[in-house]
Amino acid sequence: MSDTNWFNEARYGMFIHWGVYSYAARGEWFPNRELVPFEEYKTRYAENFKAERYDPKAWAKLAVDAGMKYAVLTTRHHDGFALWPTQTSDFHAGNIGPMRDLVGPYVAAFREAGLKVGFYFSPASWFHPDYPGPHFRDWPNEGDWKDSGQRDRFIEHYKAQLIELMSNYGKIDYLWYDGCIPDDLQSREVNEAVLALQPEILINERNGEPFHVEVCEQAIKPPAEDILWEACMTLNDNWGYHAGDHNWKQSHDVIQMLTDTARNGGNLLLNIGPKSDGSVPQESVDILTAAGDWLKRNGEAIYGAEKCPFSWNNWGKVTMKGSKVYLNIFKCTGTELCYGEIKNKVLSAKFLESGVSIDFEQKDGRLFLRDLPVPLKDPIATTIVLELDGQPEAIREQTSFWIPG
Ligand code: GLC
Repeated sequence: MSDTNWFNEARYGMFIHWGVYSYAARGEWFPNRELVPFEEYKTRYAENFKAERYDPKAWAKLAVDAGMKYAVLTTRHHDGFALWPTQTSDFHAGNIGPMRDLVGPYVAAFREAGLKVGFYFSPASWFHPDYPGPHFRDWPNEGDWKDSGQRDRFIEHYKAQLIELMSNYGKIDYLWYDGCIPDDLQSREVNEAVLALQPEILINERNGEPFHVEVCEQAIKPPAEDILWEACMTLNDNWGYHAGDHNWKQSHDVIQMLTDTARNGGNLLLNIGPKSDGSVPQESVDILTAAGDWLKRNGEAIYGAEKCPFSWNNWGKVTMKGSKVYLNIFKCTGTELCYGEIKNKVLSAKFLESGVSIDFEQKDGRLFLRDLPVPLKDPIATTIVLELDGQPEAIREQTSFWIPG
């Protein structure tokens, strides 16, 4: 049986996009966008991707400092370059570039740090002889396969790679498929083979059924159904390292995203794009660590948070767990905050970090919190925890489709 408990408790993970494209330093799609031929990709980029300073323990430490609970590494992106020494092709890190396995040390370091371990795997493979072609549009069509023989060989190839990944590295907690391939790559058969080797693994939905997690990309869009879900986001505007991209989100943006995913009962998978040598851009380290410091103070509002019945407001995001409700305040304008959503009786109100009690009154469905300091202490978000008399209930159902977040 797949293990869903850790995923619901975790709420925050590290996505790691790293590979040959990191050497080019202009994002992971560049060979496709620039019509780079295979020979050029191999000699000019793959052979120069050396992973000289690869230190997965430092990545794992960053994830822990950031407050993340799991990680997902690109074991193979659309360029088809395997970060492990696969038997299925020559295009891998044991044979070109780093000349060693990069996946095993990642698994060992993250496990040792107490984190759950995930593999990103893109079935697409731009340079594989049986793939419809290296410079294909983002999403090939059914008719792009030359014939069924080509398609069958391709399926055998990616399945064999997955079997290696699922057999050689001990327990793997999460298989994160990417898309960019025509349906259906015999996903049922392949996923069942994965589950036979890793019975507790979670699988995302991008390669079809059976799956456990629905993912959304660069947006926080909780699914309507009651299913595990995750939003994956970049910290700047690229997944793979891009030397010219300085459009960093800040630590308060990270916490706002995190409260938003948590309040909808989902996880945030936030990306780092290490450089070719394996080092993580300093901006990522600083931003993630500052957000992690906030989590040290207020993580109770995030980890294990459940889907919240409350709607939107104009000062922050509300999370909940059991009979506790957390008001994560980003913008407060005065000493009094009025919240008109809670049906239950409020038993206590306190600042989460200090435990200091807050004066409050409930009247006609309105909760008044009084004598708040102006400005609130925490520049990222100040969290107030309310203890209710039972399972939180909202006064009104959320009905409109246009309301923000
Ligand atoms: C898209 C991109 C890919 C990236 C992924 C992350 O599918 O094609 O480059 O790895 O998003 O979700």
